[in-house]
Amino acid sequence: MNYSRIIGTGGYLPEKILTNADLEQMIHTTAEWIVERTGVEQRHIAAPGETTCDLAEQASRRALAAAGIEPRDIDLIIIGTTTPDHVFPSVATQLQHRLGCYGCPAFDVQAVCTGFVYSLDIANRFIRTGASRHALVVGADTFTRIINWQDRGTCILFGDGAGAVVLEASEEPGIIDSRLHADGRYKELLWVPAGISSSYDKTRKNAAFVEMRGSEVFKVAVTTLKEITEQILTANNMEVSDLHWLIPHQANRRILAATAKRLGLPEHRMVDCVRIHGNTSAASVPLALDVAVRDGRIQRGDTLLLEGFGGGFTWGVVLLIY
Ligand code: COA
Repeated sequence: MNYSRIIGTGGYLPEKILTNADLEQMIHTTAEWIVERTGVEQRHIAAPGETTCDLAEQASRRALAAAGIEPRDIDLIIIGTTTPDHVFPSVATQLQHRLGCYGCPAFDVQAVCTGFVYSLDIANRFIRTGASRHALVVGADTFTRIINWQDRGTCILFGDGAGAVVLEASEEPGIIDSRLHADGRYKELLWVPAGISSSYDKTRKNAAFVEMRGSEVFKVAVTTLKEITEQILTANNMEVSDLHWLIPHQANRRILAATAKRLGLPEHRMVDCVRIHGNTSAASVPLALDVAVRDGRIQRGDTLLLEGFGGGFTWGVVLLIY
């Protein structure tokens, strides 16, 4: 049986930074309130005309360089995104075109902030069955394009970015286990109430905005992240103390801190990029992974738990040896 191993990571953040001081000029808020309630100090914003595929391409090229392989070696591309450049074709097919690795399967996965974790789980299954040897797995979003900049309950949280990994078939583990979940009853706690086949009003510009019931999302997220962590560890006869690093979805500093506390995980073993990235949706987990790999915190042989949580609700975990 093949395992799949991460052999390279990459990340990309757009140049423009929006600070809390900038937001003070735009909405009725204070930098102190934002930091205290969310932990976010700044977020990156895609330039006009800069698309999700642009961000995905940069992150992917960095992951390929880190893996030491050429685009032609890639035989599967999966991108988690909620903010594709077009209704169709998918971002994944356009990324494939830019990389020039024609012919391999390429598709997008829509699981909002859990998009990367879903994509990684799917790619792992391709590799384990022998259908793929080198998979490019990306989380990329220009989430600020669906943010209402007048809504102070949401615009403080989100940013743009992309993260990518290259997975390789290997005799050695690798991804040990993964679990995906969803519960559509929570739709209206976090959603964009507009869509191509429903209520989209073509006469209004930028009418598709995120709406969120923040404190209710918060409670479900903390409970769910604790539960899925315990479930996957128990199933693999492991304890929280066996994890070198927890890499949770970077939703909010308080969600991360509450999850760590409930699990009894020391916060210094959790990768936290909320302060500098904000919530970059599907990009958040692979970006945080890439940051901690590149700054040397994550070492080969470390046991990692990657966690996603997002609209739907969707949630999932991937347990792996790096
Ligand atoms: N600046 C100042 N005040 C603000 C504000 C802002 N940016 N945003 C909201 N407020 C106000 C509210 O209007 C409310 O005022 P009121 O009591 O006069 O009505 C007060 O602050 C408290 O609002 P509440 O929504 O209860 O605050 P909160 O402590 O729950 O923090 C969030 C709000 C959004 C930061 C928090 O709920 C959150 O982060 N939730 C999780 C969201 C998330 O992670 N979503 C993505 C999951 S993938």
